[in-house]
Amino acid sequence: MTRLIASFSLFALLSGTVARPASGQDGATVSATEYEGWRQYNVQCARCHGQDALPNPVAANLLVSLAPKGPAADKATFTKVVMEGRPGRGMPAFKETVTPEQVDAIYAYLKGRAEKRIPAGRPQEPAKG
Ligand code: HEC
Repeated sequence: MTRLIASFSLFALLSGTVARPASGQDGATVSATEYEGWRQYNVQCARCHGQDALPNPVAANLLVSLAPKGPAADKATFTKVVMEGRPGRGMPAFKETVTPEQVDAIYAYLKGRAEKRIPAGRPQEPAKG
């Protein structure tokens, strides 16, 4: 019996299943703000800007927009576009839908994606404390 458990643990170790979060695809470590941003992004933005902000033909590629020197790289520009939208160009205004804190969180998440600190996929939920 002990042998069976030992060989199972070895198998788990070799196949990389140990210490992986059950929910996570890759379990990237993010801050609480970035995690909240990931959540909000999925609810509010992903349908047009693509899952994990990966390029999507529907709307602007936010990995380019928020990359250094991109057209929405600074927080003030980003916040203005998100809150007021671009009427007539398909980008809705979100000021009735999201709070300033939620926009800050989405910005933090997208910055991490654009600067390649956060990989695609579901990040690991930070421990509450
Ligand atoms: C209904 C579809 C739709 C949704 C939902 C949507 N967007 Fe957009 N967004 C667009 C389109 C289309 C554009 C391009 C507008 C243009 O041509 O200037 C855009 C542009 C942008 C830009 C400007 C990009 C640039 O390079 O200038 C930012 C930033 C942005 N969206 C962020 C967001 C965020 C954050 C959310 C979620 C809170 C969101 N969008 C939700 C359609 C959408």
